Amino acid sequence: MFFMFDTLEGYIKPGTIEADLVQKIDFSHLPVHIAVIMDGNGRWARQKNLPRTEGHKAGSKSVKEIVEASARLGIKYLTLFAFSKENWKRPEDEVNTLWELLRKYLIDESQVLEENDLKLKVIGEKKGIPFLVRKELLRVEKLTKDNQRMTVVLALNYGGRQEILEAINRLIKRKDSLKEVNEETFSRYLDTADLPDPDLLIRTSGEMRLSNFLLWQCAYTELWVTPVFWPDFQKKDLIQAILDYQKRERRFGGIIKGEGTNRE
Ligand code: FPP
Repeated sequence: MFFMFDTLEGYIKPGTIEADLVQKIDFSHLPVHIAVIMDGNGRWARQKNLPRTEGHKAGSKSVKEIVEASARLGIKYLTLFAFSKENWKRPEDEVNTLWELLRKYLIDESQVLEENDLKLKVIGEKKGIPFLVRKELLRVEKLTKDNQRMTVVLALNYGGRQEILEAINRLIKRKDSLKEVNEETFSRYLDTADLPDPDLLIRTSGEMRLSNFLLWQCAYTELWVTPVFWPDFQKKDLIQAILDYQKRERRFGGIIKGEGTNRE
């Protein structure tokens, strides 16, 4: 089924929790880039006496819901941590299920992404990704490369430390006389070179860790952790995260305007 992710009109039903929450959003102060550590698929499944793979399947549905909700709300970049470098340590059938779900997502959703002006981008080490998934990723990246409304970034076979090391190695290999590197030049060697740093990082299922995700990029990112498992994460939770973000005063290491250390 294809549909246009129009505005919020008709999407949020009157009288629901999200209808109440959405009214409180200040649309002139949205986070530009939201990153998400989608955690808790396994625990969600265990709670229901289901195999872990069922948790991942349910997690795919949340991916669709949150991509749509983010686009409709006006978020410009949404980065999802879908497969980490460490995830290879899981049993083979779980690893295979995760890649198969990803391939299915790309096949099912490429038209939805394209018709709604959404661009797909991948960060992480592409050459470790199974061939058939890589083929789909390349196809969808190419199909959606000129889209403008929102960029969906999938972190696949991704690790923050590995990304930083690869950037350093790319820098070393440069033959010209690069004498000094500053933050801006270094950022251009990361997988996220053309993306702004995340404003808000959401982590589901209650863990208070970064888990090797966007280590460089999250230096000043606001963190929001919810106990909700990823398969239960819905648009109302996303709106709640945005509302909490909007209450925060971001100082980037500085001080609040007008609050100097006046000791006279
Ligand atoms: C963490 O849950 C989640 C993952 C390791 C992968 C996320 C994958 C999906 C949501 C499905 C496919 C993705 C897309 C983009 C279609 P966990 O298994 O670590 O949960 P646990 O900590 O409760 O065991």
